[in-house]
Amino acid sequence: MKDRQNIHGSWANRWIFIMAATGSAVGLGNIWKFPYIAGENGGGAFVLVYLLFILGVGVPIMMAEVLVGRRGRQSPINSMREVAIESDHSPKWALVGWMGALAGFLIFSFYSVVAGWVLAYVAAMANGDFLDVGSEQAGKVFSDLLADPQTLLIWHSVFVVLVMVVLLGGVNKGLERATKLMMPALFVLLLVLLGYSMTSGSFGEGLDFLFHFDPSELSWDAVLVALGHSFFTLSLGMGSIMAYGSYMPKNASIGGTVLTIAALDTAIALIAGMAIFPIVFANSLDPGAGPGLMFITLPVAFGQMPGGQVFGFLFFVLVALAAWTSAISLMEPGVAWMVEKFGLKRGPVCILLGLVVWLLGIAALSSFNFGSDISLFGMNIFDFLDFITANVFLPLGGLFVACFAGWALKQKVTREELAMANPGYYLAWSVAIRYIAPVAVAAIFILNLIEKLG
Ligand code: PHE
Ligand code: NA
Repeated sequence: MKDRQNIHGSWANRWIFIMAATGSAVGLGNIWKFPYIAGENGGGAFVLVYLLFILGVGVPIMMAEVLVGRRGRQSPINSMREVAIESDHSPKWALVGWMGALAGFLIFSFYSVVAGWVLAYVAAMANGDFLDVGSEQAGKVFSDLLADPQTLLIWHSVFVVLVMVVLLGGVNKGLERATKLMMPALFVLLLVLLGYSMTSGSFGEGLDFLFHFDPSELSWDAVLVALGHSFFTLSLGMGSIMAYGSYMPKNASIGGTVLTIAALDTAIALIAGMAIFPIVFANSLDPGAGPGLMFITLPVAFGQMPGGQVFGFLFFVLVALAAWTSAISLMEPGVAWMVEKFGLKRGPVCILLGLVVWLLGIAALSSFNFGSDISLFGMNIFDFLDFITANVFLPLGGLFVACFAGWALKQKVTREELAMANPGYYLAWSVAIRYIAPVAVAAIFILNLIEKLG
C-alpha cells in the first residue's frame, strides 16, 4: 500500500508525535488516579504488577495501535476497516473502532468532571483558601464542592470549552501547538514539585510505601485494577493512540517511539507518587483516602508547609494542563470520524460532540448531588463510568487490537510498518501481541469473574 497522507494533517516530526502521544498518556490517570489506587491497594506489590502490565501488555498493544493507525491513515473506525480489508479480513473489525469511540465519550464524561474539580482548586489555591486548614476542614471544602452542582457545572463547562477549542484548530494549529506549549511546562512543574517534596516531606517513607514488596497484599481485584489502569494510563484500547498514530510520519520507528512514550508516562506516574506520598506521610494523612487523596490531603499538606500556597497553586495548574492534553485525545477519534464520514468542517463537529459530552458530564457530576440516588450495579453514575471504561471497555478493546494485529493482519504488513532492524525484536513483539497480551487480559477477566461468582 502506498503511503497516503491523512486528510486531517500530520505531525511535523517524530518528536512532535512523541510529545502529543505523551500529552495524551500523561493526565489525571498519572497524577490523580495512580496515586490513589496505589494507596488503596497497599502500594508496593500493586505498583510492581502495574509495571509488569505496562511492559508486557501495554507497550506491545501501543505499538499495534500506532501501526494500525499509520497504515490506515484515518480515524480509528475507518483505519480498522481499511487495514482489515487489506489483509483479506472482514470490514466488521471497524466495530472495535466504534467501541473505542464510545469508550472515549464515556471516559470524557467523568474525566471532565474531575478536571473541573482541578480547575476549581486552581482558583481556590490562588485565593489562599487552604492556608492552615486541617484535614477536616479540607474535607469539607471538597464535599461542599461535590454537593454544589452549579459550581461543578460551571467548571465542567469551562473544561469542555477548552478542549473543544483546541480540537477545533485541527492537528497542526490546534493539537500540535497546544502540545508544544504545554508539555515542557508540565515537565518543569513536576520536577519542581518533586524537589519540594524531597526537601519538605517524609521522602523515605513515601518511597517505601510505593516500592516495598509484599505479595500477600495483592488480590485479584487489585490485579484487575492494575491491568485496567495500565490501559487507561497509556490511553490504550479506545483509539486515541491509533488516531495520533495516523498522523505519524512514515519514517519514524514505532518501537523506539512507543518505548519513549511509555517510559515518560510511567516516570511521571511514579514521580507523582513520589511527590504526593511523602507529603501525605509527613502530615500523618491516610494514603488510602481514595479519589479524594489529591483533593483533600494535598491541600492540607500544602496549606501547612512554607511556600505551600505557591506550590499548591502550581501543582493544580500542572494537573489541569495534563488533563487538558489527555481530554483532547479522548475526543479526536470521534471528531476525525465525523469529519471523514460527513465531510463536515471541524467547527460544527466539535460543537456537536462538545454538546454530547457536556450532557453526559452532567449525568456524571450529578452522582455527588441531585443524582446520588441513582445506582448502577451498586455504583453511582460516576463510579460506574470509571469502572466500566477502565476495567471492561479498555482491556477488551486492547484484547481485540492485540488479536487483530497479531492474528488477523498479514505478517508482511506488521513487519513493514514496524520496520525493526533486529529480527529478534519483531519476534518478541509477535509473541507478546499474539500470546502474552491476549492471554493476560483474558485470564484476568475470567479469574475475576470466577472470584465474583464464587
Ligand atoms: N491516559 C490518560 C490519563 O492517564 C487518560 C486517557 C485514557 C486519555 C484514554 C485518552 C484515552 O489520564
Ligand atoms: Na497516563
